Order: sequence, then C-alpha cells, then structure tokens
Amino acid sequence: MSHETTSNIQAVPPLLSVQGLHVEYRTRKGPVRAVDNVSFDIQRNEVFGLAGESGCGKSTIAQAILRLHKPPAHITDGQVLFDMTDVLKLDKKALQQLRWEHIAFVSQSAMNALNPVMTVGEQVIDVMQAHRPVHRKQARQRARELFDVVGIDPDRIDSYPHQLSGGMRQRAVIAIALALQPELIILDEPTTALDVVVQKQIMEELKQLKDEFGFSALFITHDLSLLVEFSDRIAIMYAGEIVEIGSSRQIFTEPQHPYTQRLMGSFPTLHGERKAFLGIPGSPPNLLSPPTGCRFHPRCDVAIAGLCQEVHPDLFTVGDKHHAACHLVTEKDRDFQQS
Ligand SMILES: Nc1ncnc2c1ncn2[C@@H]1O[C@H](COP(=O)(O)OP(=O)(O)OP(=O)(O)O)[C@@H](O)[C@H]1O
Ligand SMILES: [Mg+2]
Repeated sequence: MSHETTSNIQAVPPLLSVQGLHVEYRTRKGPVRAVDNVSFDIQRNEVFGLAGESGCGKSTIAQAILRLHKPPAHITDGQVLFDMTDVLKLDKKALQQLRWEHIAFVSQSAMNALNPVMTVGEQVIDVMQAHRPVHRKQARQRARELFDVVGIDPDRIDSYPHQLSGGMRQRAVIAIALALQPELIILDEPTTALDVVVQKQIMEELKQLKDEFGFSALFITHDLSLLVEFSDRIAIMYAGEIVEIGSSRQIFTEPQHPYTQRLMGSFPTLHGERKAFLGIPGSPPNLLSPPTGCRFHPRCDVAIAGLCQEVHPDLFTVGDKHHAACHLVTEKDRDFQQS
C-alpha cells in the first residue's frame, strides 16, 4: 500500500520534459551541433536556470522548445513534452495556441521587438483578444492591472515604446507574457540589456509574480548571481551539452564538474564581496568539430591524461538529484567503493 503511494507521488509528470534533444545548424562547412543530447525536466512552480558561456546552446534550446528555431537550425532528435503533449508533433494551429497561452517567451531583445507604432497597452490588448473572447474594455482594464503588477504606472498603457525607458519596455513585455497566465515562461536573458539594479528589481518582481500566479520558468542568464538567487534547479551547459545539473544550492555550494567549479569560483555574489571575474582560460570550442572525449578537457587543469581526451563522460549521479558529467567524479566514486 505504502509502496503504491510512493510510486504515485513519483509519477507526477513534470510540466516540461526535454529528452535527448539534438539541434544542429546545417552550415556550408558542416553541421554545427549546438545542442547535443540535452535532457531536463521542469516541475510545476519551479524556476529552472540554464547557464554557460556564450555560444553553448542556451538560446537554441529555448527556441527549439517552442519550435521558434529557423533554418539552418534543425531538431534532429529528441522529445519536448509539455504537460505530456509532444510539442514536436503538434500541428501549426495547436502550436500557435501553445505559444503565449501556455508557454510565453521573453527574450533579451524582446523590448526592441515591441511594435513602435502601437501603444504598449494596445499590444497587451492585442495578445489577449487574439486568444480569448474578451471585450476591449475588459482587456484594457486587465492591461492596466498587469502594468501595475509589473511595476509600471497603469496610465503608461497609452505610451508608445519610445516614450518608455528600457526597463519599462522590458516590464511591458513581461506584462504581455503574463497576460494569458501561461504555465511556463521562458526568460532568455530577460534583463541582460539593463543596468544591474533594474535587473534585480525585475527579477524580484518576477519572483513575487510567480508566487502569486504560480507559473514555472526556464531562466537563461549569463549572470550567475541572479541565476543562483532566483533558480530552484540549475543546469550548466558546456559546448552544447549539460555537464552538471542539480539544485541551486548544490550547484553553488558543492559544484562537482571542474567547469562549474571555475564558473562558480569566478563570479561576485549579490550580497557578498565583489570579486573580480577571473574567467576561465581558453575559449569554448567550435561546435563544427568539438573536442573528442570530454569537450572541456583542453581547458581543464585536472583532466586525467589518456582518459578525458578519449572517453566521453556521461552524467553520473553525485548526490540527491545531482548529476555531473566528469570522469573525476566517477573515478572518485570508484576509489571510494574500493576502499
Ligand atoms: N544561424 C546559425 N548558423 C550557424 N551556427 C549558429 C547559428 N546560430 C547559432 N549558431 C551556433 O550555435 C551555437 C549555440 O548558439 P546559441 O545562440 O544557442 O548560444 P547561447 O548559449 O544562447 O549564447 P549566448 O550566451 O551568446 O546567447 C553557437 O556555437 C553558435 O555559433
Ligand atoms: Mg543566447
């Protein structure tokens, strides 16, 4: 009986499940394997953070989830399950419904994607009326409420984008994203173009909104202090692959992969002393021909000669729902089991 109960609890499906996702850009020089066998789940009400150096494939994943990728990008393998529905098999109409109504997308450049000849309020109303049978007056009232919720004076709904600051434009985009109360919001570097104080304010408001509305988020950022502060779980990507995944606390306090350790060791925390960003020597590989074995081995100062450059490491369990793809952790585990 109790066994049954346990298995029922475990059977609660995640809101989003990405399984074995492969995305490549077919270029004249050959396929750029931007996303290589990536798997992760996002639970309801969870903020899932995705980080890694520029070019590691974060935006490609975000676009592939909503099938917003364009040629030369192609999804070559894998599954994207949203609420158990296979997104990669949806027809055009169902996909249109999924976007905005169930999954909203806020990108780094979203604030520049606002229509310059329409007031921001009109743009919120447009999204609502395109998906729901609401009267203009009701939609306008709702737009005012949403502006208030994201921290813009509701009277600003009659402003044109150029009359608002960058921070306000980005908040307006977040208001549009929230308009249909989606279950998942994908935030691809939503605040990177803004100054640090505004970034933090917007993230704090998003967190409050999350508690109020109860959505999940895929939060992509370069900013590790924001990442650690606002995510429940985190995946660290390197050269198209997830190299470590765990709770925010595990990734911050006990990173296992040398790449995660270098990343975590080189950023200033929001509250702590501001250390200089030391960076990681070398640069990420060209994904036209990634290194053999562990893709990080050419930059890794603890690589095991003969092993890391030849054998590709799989994700290995290093703690409770904590996984890292590094031969060092498997070797450590082997030593431990032998002793
Ligand atoms: N149109 C394209 N043609 C060929 N390669 C591309 C194209 N767009 C992206 N790539 C390659 O795909 C890889 C992943 O790019 P992506 O934009 O997903 O990275 P990212 O992690 O989001 O980077 P950033 O942090 O700079 O936003 C990069 O190595 C990039 O060079
Ligand atoms: Mg990107």
